[in-house]
Amino acid sequence: MKELIDKLYETQVLERKELVHLLNNFSADISDYLFEKSRLVAKNNFGNSIYTRGLIEFTNFCKNDCYYCGISKSNKNADRYRLSMEEILSCCETGYELGFRTFVLQGGDDGYYSVDKVVEIIKKIKSAYPDCAITLSIGEHSYESYKKFYEAGADRYLLRHETATDVHYKKLHPAELSLANRKQCLYNLKEIGFQVGTGFMIGSPFQTVENLADDLLFIKEFKPHMIGIGPFIPHKDTRFFNEKQGSLELTLLLIGILRLMHPKVLIPATTALGTIDPKGREKGILAGANVVMPNLSPVNVRNKYSLYDNKICTGEEAAECRFCLQNRMQKIGYELVIDRGDYKE
Ligand code: SAM
Ligand code: FES
Repeated sequence: MKELIDKLYETQVLERKELVHLLNNFSADISDYLFEKSRLVAKNNFGNSIYTRGLIEFTNFCKNDCYYCGISKSNKNADRYRLSMEEILSCCETGYELGFRTFVLQGGDDGYYSVDKVVEIIKKIKSAYPDCAITLSIGEHSYESYKKFYEAGADRYLLRHETATDVHYKKLHPAELSLANRKQCLYNLKEIGFQVGTGFMIGSPFQTVENLADDLLFIKEFKPHMIGIGPFIPHKDTRFFNEKQGSLELTLLLIGILRLMHPKVLIPATTALGTIDPKGREKGILAGANVVMPNLSPVNVRNKYSLYDNKICTGEEAAECRFCLQNRMQKIGYELVIDRGDYKE
């Protein structure tokens, strides 16, 4: 097993059967061996700097019905909201004062926000904060729409592929959504010029170790600028309410593997990781992640953006979230930096 990790460290690649073997047979010792190396690679590329992104969850309306997601359209218990332009700008103002230089606009796939409306939001934020990057995470759109977002000033786009296996994708999504379209969107975004992030959940229902190996291989082939992974966590109002949540150990192992496969890629220690373990985000950083995404959404909507149960940071003001993370990172020897945190070759 250690030889496999050495090989990954030296060559940044493993064959599918080697990945499957590693994922099937890892132990705490092997993980520690991996994390020493993945942490070193992260330190060599980013020092002890941790990039921050201010997350603005601006709508929880969604026209899709992803079976795992708490804000999917068929959840009649979801209390739906949309932020106004003023509210979004006010989140940015607070965020800017707190030192954020990237704003992530995330939401359900909400048709209310037409291309023109999204373009207007991007332009307003960019003109108020020209030194900030804008990341969009608003799902699948046409090539032309993505191009308009880019031309309006959006810099980055997050679109997790969720699973790179067609059969598995179909078990997590209704028939109108397809892995082929999701991947096409990712390639379109890259061609247009966005810094692109993809990723997947660990422990989603029906997932096999082979599926995870194929996720790693798809990411290797796609070469994203950002990779967001986190454990699947059930939501009480979805069909997967009774499913097991993803494992902390496996999520951390995958962060370590991804860091060795992609030394310069931006990897967040996600909120979902912090939700399944009180020190989850710290552990993610120590496994090779280099980004955190504190919440900037107004407190009165926080618990409505409920993708999964028991999500953390739903009661705190933006400043509290920022300072809490700052302390957490300092305790493990890292610093939050005031920086756009772009991908660098
Ligand atoms: N609508 C956009 C999209 O589809 O990409 C962005 C919002 S979507 C809620 C953001 C991510 O949340 C998804 O890509 C998915 O991986 C994650 N997510 C949704 N439900 C989850 C759950 N139950 N547990 C963990 N992550 C979840
Ligand atoms: Fe649309 Fe989750 S189903 S954001």
